[in-house]
Amino acid sequence: MMTEKAKLQEAQEQFKARFGQWPRVYRAPGRVNLIGEHTDYNEGLVMPAAIQFHVWVAATARNDHKLLAHSTIFSEIVEIDLQSQDLRPKNHWSDYVLGIAMMLEQSGHALRGANLMILGDVPIGSGLSSSAALEVASGFALLATSGMPVDRTELAKLCQRAENEVVGARVGIMDPFVSCFGCSGQALMLDCRTLQYDLLPVSSEAQLVICNTMVKHSLASGEYNTRRAECEEAVRVLSRCLPHVRALRDVTLADLAHHTGELQPSVYRRCRHVITENLRVTDAADALRKNDLPKFGRLMGESHCSLRQDYEVSCAELDLLVELAQKQPGVYGSRMTGGGFRGCTINVV
Ligand code: GLA
Repeated sequence: MMTEKAKLQEAQEQFKARFGQWPRVYRAPGRVNLIGEHTDYNEGLVMPAAIQFHVWVAATARNDHKLLAHSTIFSEIVEIDLQSQDLRPKNHWSDYVLGIAMMLEQSGHALRGANLMILGDVPIGSGLSSSAALEVASGFALLATSGMPVDRTELAKLCQRAENEVVGARVGIMDPFVSCFGCSGQALMLDCRTLQYDLLPVSSEAQLVICNTMVKHSLASGEYNTRRAECEEAVRVLSRCLPHVRALRDVTLADLAHHTGELQPSVYRRCRHVITENLRVTDAADALRKNDLPKFGRLMGESHCSLRQDYEVSCAELDLLVELAQKQPGVYGSRMTGGGFRGCTINVV
């Protein structure tokens, strides 16, 4: 494997060969989620960790308002004119660069043009957040080449908006947030309502092992939006009797038991997943603090069952990898990670 220093040098040399200048290089990690799935957009708790796969963006400023973005992954160069009145997504990798540039501009950052070269080793479409890593690294590069400081919380929020408003995916804040704030050897427990977070040590006795199913079912993005809509529907119904309920974060299991009859059976099960998953994240954080890896692993297993049965976002390939992993000696816990219907499992080993 190439060292990080060798990768940095490669990025600089490729950039020099393409643009004739020596760039600065910005790097953002992909992520794996240890526990707390489909809770971020319900203003709940999540516990992702940054991983050792990154997107790198090498950049220099230009004297005009153009972005020339070269992706070494797709061997393609795209020109974006920041002054154009007709900036719109094209269902293309460059939408992520365009998206964060548009959100930075809309939030009052007058950007300079830039030459950008994108490199990376986060597997694409595997649920490890290559898109958030590309947005965050591009955001750092665009702000730095324009001589502006980076406020990481604001950047994470703008990356989420870029995905929601430009790319058209209704994702939560988890992925860009951990790409901005994740630290080596630690899990990040985030309260998606207040954006307060805690870095929790993952004992060096444990390794995080990611297994990739290599599948992507076409259901992935459509079902994601359906789940969001079901959660919103539940909040609408429950808030009629429970006016303090703004998000599923505010609903307890006792509330749910009391109002079961008012919800469609599938919507009831979506709620049960979200409420119990928030409780599991709190327990999992406790377990990590006490270095109780067997307990952490049991909670991961419960999370997977809840995602499979109540939230219905797993698939046969993810279930099989989890089942096989759980039988191996030395595996504390295994579950699907990310939005579901594709991608990877996370195993604490
Ligand atoms: C995707 C989204 C995240 C989160 C997860 C599910 O990864 O990008 O915001 O909702 O699904 O936990």
